[in-house]
Amino acid sequence: MTYPHIRLHTYLHSRAYMRIVAAMHASLARSDRPTRPRRRWFDPAVFDFWARHFNRTWSAQRILARVIEQRSASARATTLLLRPNRHWPGARAGQHLDVTVEIAGVRHRRSYSLSAPPRADGCIEITVAEVEGGLVSTRLARGLRVGDVIELGAPYGGLLLPQVDTGHADTAIHAASPVGRAGGTGQRGPALAAATLPGSLAPHEATGLNPARANAPVLLLAAGSGITPLRALLLEALARGDTRPITLAYWAQTAAEHCFREELHELAAQHPNLHVELLATRDPLNPVGRIDADRLRSLAPDLAAHAVLACGPEGFIELARALCAQACSFQAEGFSPPTAAAGHAPTVRVQLARSGLELELPTDRPLLQALEDAGQQPAFGCRRGICNTCSCDRLAGASRDLQSGQTTDAPSTPIRLCVHSAAQGLVLDL
Ligand code: FES
Repeated sequence: MTYPHIRLHTYLHSRAYMRIVAAMHASLARSDRPTRPRRRWFDPAVFDFWARHFNRTWSAQRILARVIEQRSASARATTLLLRPNRHWPGARAGQHLDVTVEIAGVRHRRSYSLSAPPRADGCIEITVAEVEGGLVSTRLARGLRVGDVIELGAPYGGLLLPQVDTGHADTAIHAASPVGRAGGTGQRGPALAAATLPGSLAPHEATGLNPARANAPVLLLAAGSGITPLRALLLEALARGDTRPITLAYWAQTAAEHCFREELHELAAQHPNLHVELLATRDPLNPVGRIDADRLRSLAPDLAAHAVLACGPEGFIELARALCAQACSFQAEGFSPPTAAAGHAPTVRVQLARSGLELELPTDRPLLQALEDAGQQPAFGCRRGICNTCSCDRLAGASRDLQSGQTTDAPSTPIRLCVHSAAQGLVLDL
């Protein structure tokens, strides 16, 4: 006896089954072929839009951080304790990061140094000095509240304290470098004499560990906001039990503008190997001059034995570099954007290859600034030649490196717009 409806049912199922199997075989057969791009079904911006309704630090890709605590660091500076979300890759003391805030609907980005070593719970600190008329510094120093969320960039660059030779150099170096940057001591030479440059190895990365230099006494020279990365390195060294002689000389305009003043005095009282000198250039009773040879002699009579780290405005760095020519190593970071020597400022034709625009740009300022003045919005981060965010290919023509003063014209070469000016008719990959 036959049951037509059962036969039909079985027939349909077997057809469906055979189709599934055929599809699987076809899929397996395709698996060793190059895959075709699939339609993008996940949009990070859409995810972020909905996710922030649940938690303002949730994001598909962006590094967002919640303000956990605010405290005064000086009369003009505020320290922000931040808890970044899971996209934060980790950092080490001495590094910098970009902070983005939105003010009146416009996103602004500025670069700050970590002012303390990253904490075990993942929180980080930055210290923001309020700049007169500074939109972003004022917002960060005064306009944020605990619980607010700001956007961060990945950490980059940075000074590195020579690691004490433990006999296990690699271990010591990597333990102190959570983001995997190698460390060691610097050597005096052209690469080291210049501030740390992106796109090339930092001096300490290029040289490897030299035990003699690793154990050298350390001289830290800070001016203004330059204290922040040096404080992070100092705290890390003391927490590690570093017993090398460490001298910190820190210039500010007035005593009230010295960040971490009490803390630095307390640290010096607790650690016999630490000597701190806080110097105020506009002190009403006892103003001190800028850094000079006499001051250096009193800070470090045996300068040739010292590893020197300096951070501050460019003018301070240039002076420190010249005065520390005899030091056994010298690392520096300046935080003023470089400027070309003042001159007649002729203009040159600059062609933007992607947009097809042609502009007449002055030769007396960084290309980044000249492009912005002309209404363009190139990507940027630190504006000091460190982060490489503004790098773009110079397809033709010549540009001048404002840090070295050299003019180069090799075609198809990446240049950093914030530290290069136009020299002769340029074609940029923008
Ligand atoms: S290298 Fe950082 S903005 Fe130019």
